[in-house]
Amino acid sequence: MPEQKSNEVTRDQLAELLNEDLAREYQAVIAYVVYSQALKGAPYMQIAKELVVHAGEELSHALTIAKQIDYLGGSMTVTPKPVKTSDDPKQMLRFDLENEAETLRQYRERIRQCEALGEFAIAESIREIMLQEQDHLIELATALGEDPPNVSG
Ligand SMILES: [Fe+2]
Ligand SMILES: [Fe+2]
Repeated sequence: MPEQKSNEVTRDQLAELLNEDLAREYQAVIAYVVYSQALKGAPYMQIAKELVVHAGEELSHALTIAKQIDYLGGSMTVTPKPVKTSDDPKQMLRFDLENEAETLRQYRERIRQCEALGEFAIAESIREIMLQEQDHLIELATALGEDPPNVSG
């Protein structure tokens, strides 16, 4: 299903969109498992430890989103979004930063869609996930020596 701009979605469409979110959470688990171990070199030791923590948090996000899809009567995807690989530590962190920014943009929209449907509990659980995604974004930007990107667009 194409990404939608409208807040007006059906429950079935919401379940499909949450499946896109679930696929992004699987992608994040895989990326953080691999990158946390593959990042080498003294400048990256601190962020590598943080990526281990991110991996566990992304798994808990996947479980939360899966629970909401099941609640809506949807069937859960088993396929992650593709994970990019690189031997360059900066490039790995860049991929993570771009994925976190896209995840935050999608969740902002999802909360509005949930609220338009009166699904306030799902919206609340996504807000809790967003708190951690925003921390991930900030940690990655800091490791790259940048300001976090604006995800409100
Ligand atoms: Fe996540
Ligand atoms: Fe994240």
